[in-house]
Amino acid sequence: GDAMRVETLLKNMTLEEKIGQLNQYSNTFDVTGPAQTEAADRQRLQRVRDGLVGSLLNVCGAEETRKAQRLAVEHSRLGIPMLFAFDVIHGYRTMFPIPLGEAASWDLAAIELSARIAATEAAAAGLHWTFAPMVDVTRDARWGRVMEGAGEDPYLHAVIAAARVRGFQGEDLEATDTVAACAKHFAAYGFAEAGRDYNTVDISEHTLRNAVLPPFQAAVEAGVATVMNSFNDIDGVPTTASELLQRGILKGEWGFQGFVISDWNSIGELVPHGVAVDLRQAALLAMTAGSDMDMESSAYVNHLVDLVRSGVVPEALIDDAVRRVLTLKSRLGLFEDPYRYCDAQREKKLLFSPKHRAAARDVARKSIVLLENRNHLLPLDKTKGSIAVIGPLAADKDVPLGNWRAKAIAGSAVSLLEGIQAAVGDGVAVRHAQGAPLGLGPGNFMNEMVLNHGDRSGFAQAIEAARQAETVVMAIGEEAFQTGEGRSQVDIRLKGVQMDLLKAVLEVNPRVVVVLMNGRPLVLDWMADKVPAIVEAWHLGSEAGHAIADVLFGDYNPSGKLPMSFPRHVGQLPLYYNHKKTGRPDPLPDDMVFWSHYTDERNTPRYPFGYGLSYTTFSYSQVTVSAAEIGFADELRVHTTVTNTGARAGTEIVQLYVRDLVGSVTRPVRELKGFQKVRLAPGASRKVTFTLDAKALAFYTRGKKWQAEPGEFLVFVGPNSRDLREARFTLREPHGPKPGK
Ligand code: IFM
Repeated sequence: GDAMRVETLLKNMTLEEKIGQLNQYSNTFDVTGPAQTEAADRQRLQRVRDGLVGSLLNVCGAEETRKAQRLAVEHSRLGIPMLFAFDVIHGYRTMFPIPLGEAASWDLAAIELSARIAATEAAAAGLHWTFAPMVDVTRDARWGRVMEGAGEDPYLHAVIAAARVRGFQGEDLEATDTVAACAKHFAAYGFAEAGRDYNTVDISEHTLRNAVLPPFQAAVEAGVATVMNSFNDIDGVPTTASELLQRGILKGEWGFQGFVISDWNSIGELVPHGVAVDLRQAALLAMTAGSDMDMESSAYVNHLVDLVRSGVVPEALIDDAVRRVLTLKSRLGLFEDPYRYCDAQREKKLLFSPKHRAAARDVARKSIVLLENRNHLLPLDKTKGSIAVIGPLAADKDVPLGNWRAKAIAGSAVSLLEGIQAAVGDGVAVRHAQGAPLGLGPGNFMNEMVLNHGDRSGFAQAIEAARQAETVVMAIGEEAFQTGEGRSQVDIRLKGVQMDLLKAVLEVNPRVVVVLMNGRPLVLDWMADKVPAIVEAWHLGSEAGHAIADVLFGDYNPSGKLPMSFPRHVGQLPLYYNHKKTGRPDPLPDDMVFWSHYTDERNTPRYPFGYGLSYTTFSYSQVTVSAAEIGFADELRVHTTVTNTGARAGTEIVQLYVRDLVGSVTRPVRELKGFQKVRLAPGASRKVTFTLDAKALAFYTRGKKWQAEPGEFLVFVGPNSRDLREARFTLREPHGPKPGK
């Protein structure tokens, strides 16, 4: 098997060859091209031939990876194949919704399918390994990378992490429709201070264990092949140099058998972090801490041989890391055939295939969240009337592809305008006017957008179109690269003159449907109160326009729910539903000042976690529990009956939350513990049952143990984290020794 092959190989390897396996380079040079001109590139290429490069990232395509693989396999002494890695985040050529949007589907089967199709395309393009899923819980919408994860909740994040790992990796890594996955960024990258990317993280062990680590652990339990560390420090230690995180928790407590890849030059960044004097010391710190493979810094390939020979780094550490890397190569089937994923015909057949695009449309419509629908403005009639499609994103064919778009073809998305035109019959007159540019504001890297920041020259035409139409569909939001790595922002309202355009349009035609396309929760200001219908459509991918049209015209009844709170004001951040109570949680009757609040804004979000409307309505019965008291070995059943009280079939995401009333440490006011997607015909009812046990109630206690504590709990069921019905139960003291409080 894999183990025997790896051990035999390891015995035959020189120290240099071993360390070469821990070295990853990006395709900043042309691996397949003619003679390299830069000395550094020539050196990298020579190292590939010498067997000193274990993996390449950013080399894609069946032919390109074949040519590059040949350099290692045919020239190096042992012919060990390289791993080809790439950021396949929400699709390879066929784009699915950005991960935050997809999380709004709360649909694990859809999310798994999306990852599988991404893997199918990537594997057909010669790739073995994706740097996904990102499983960073975050509570701050200013952080640019919120678009890449599943939002603010550890439970939702954990089940989605597992679904994505299953989707990418399948049952068998040797299959040609699977790739190795990578849970990133370990750990707490999403807790950067003030939401500024790469910034310091200073959180308690309690928050780390309870809020940050559960999705990583879920990914490990789902068998994730690799884990990437992160750029941030925590409690003064950059994670790349953290023995506690990498050897202690990940490989120790959780028994992770795969390998850890550094983030891009995160070993080199130990120098600017100020914990290493030079790259040599950085290599020592990272290897000692358990970072197995070095992305791009050359610290390992340049310094580890000497560090081992001089007795500073034990060779056993190197062997352990190499064993982990070679095991993955073996599991992928690369020793049998290093070119097994390089099939140009398969690549041609599968990429952007009609089947993949149909799946992308379905996942996209499941990801849409209906935020407002006053007076039942939606769905619209597609047989008669007139629609003005207005706004900077109305006809845009690129922005819906989102950031981290892998090998999507620029401008290949179905625009909203195209989607609407394809959906309506001849009876509907469709007019289009852009009205205004997105306008990204000063300081942005996109200069032309900055130049257009306040451009109102298109207003008159848009107002005229709005005046003449029965209904306006207005597409506004964020540019694709306004979120993503390095794209943190202090102001999360709509940029430029978008709100002014909206106001001007509303003045001439109140029947406005806003379609938002964005990569983070936004502050919607007066829009949330004044615009009759608001559709949250994220950056939905290749089929965006069709998916949105499916919802606008009622061919699909929206069912998505927000995976992150939408704040009223940026000053509320970080904002999350599962916050602590504090010692002063409630308004004081006799003194309105001295409780935990702001004096100029409410504490609550504008739209809470788990929120989303449907074209039908659902009612919830009283919540009941199967017992008033349970023991540590028992199960509690929680029941509610959900009824579709409207006139259309629809799907409701029924959510279960728990509050632990008294703990050894302060506990969140609510924590998501389960959800079910229930489809109901008009008038139909369904009894929904959840099961809870001591395992589900466990958390990291004051005694530093992962366990439940006896006492009273509230259990809540409802359509979102705010509008809940509740019941109560007690977890009895266990027999025998009490759990450490
Ligand atoms: O995978 C990414 C990571 O998320 C951020 N830094 C670069 C890596 C490789 O592209």
